[in-house]
Amino acid sequence: MPMDLAQPRRVEHQQTDKGYVPVYTTALVEQPWDTYSADDHATWSTLYQRQRELLVGRACQEFLDAQDEMGMNAHMIPRFDQLNEVLGAATGWTLVGVEGLLPELDFFDHLANRRFPVTWWIRRPDQIDYIAEPDLFHDLFGHVPLLMNPVFADYMEAYGRGGVKAHAIGPDALQNLTRLYWYTVEFGLIDTPDGLRIYGAGIVSSKGESLYSLESAAPNRIGFDLQRIMRTKYRIDTFQKTYFVIDSFEQLMQATSPDFTPIYAALADQAHLPAGDVQADDHVFQAGTGEGWADGGDV
Ligand code: PHE
Ligand code: FE
Repeated sequence: MPMDLAQPRRVEHQQTDKGYVPVYTTALVEQPWDTYSADDHATWSTLYQRQRELLVGRACQEFLDAQDEMGMNAHMIPRFDQLNEVLGAATGWTLVGVEGLLPELDFFDHLANRRFPVTWWIRRPDQIDYIAEPDLFHDLFGHVPLLMNPVFADYMEAYGRGGVKAHAIGPDALQNLTRLYWYTVEFGLIDTPDGLRIYGAGIVSSKGESLYSLESAAPNRIGFDLQRIMRTKYRIDTFQKTYFVIDSFEQLMQATSPDFTPIYAALADQAHLPAGDVQADDHVFQAGTGEGWADGGDV
């Protein structure tokens, strides 16, 4: 088959007065498993092998064990329906296929109902090391395993409900909540008796950041603090300047269980913090050297 025909369809982009924005597709799609090419499976295989090797001793054990329990392996791209049997039995979550990023409210609604949207297509071979938008490897390899953990599974559902609520409150509340997702679900570290480990999906699906987040002297590593995180900007185009460290998934669940409405109100007149700042009352695991940090660009 000519190379072009083997390429999955991408989220389309459109020029608008707000710039070049993705055209979101909200429809759910059945995973077209039979249409994956040999290249697609090879991309999964390469990435799976490379990350698993790297993540033993770096990712938290819950993550690694869950991948094994779900039967993920380097052989071929997993089938959503097979994963769903295991996942459904373990925590009642269901994977649903999507074309790409969803509008916020749709995404929250899925999570609130224990449905996790997974992008069905996988990156091209020349995008092995970096792709800006989430693909199947990021979503499936990175996010899905921890949905097997009962506490984390509940956290994700609670986050979805919280998202629906924050969406109704307004854009500032939504920004606070998005930062929480970013610094936990995407880029979180966890303290274990064996040392710091990765649980964030954005880290485990990246070779470079798996090494950087744990081993580089450059970034800050700071103890989880809900309001601190909600005030902190983040990076979307470089490795993070700061990683936040939880003690346990129970801590994450407990710290986020209070009603956020008064917290959003209290945060409204507080300054946003630059991604790389260390505050006087931070619990600092490591103050970063800041080496190699880009100026500007925090969002
Ligand atoms: N407790 C939060 C609220 O009231 C909901 C939430 C739970 C948000 C867990 C994120 C994570 O909005
Ligand atoms: Fe993600």
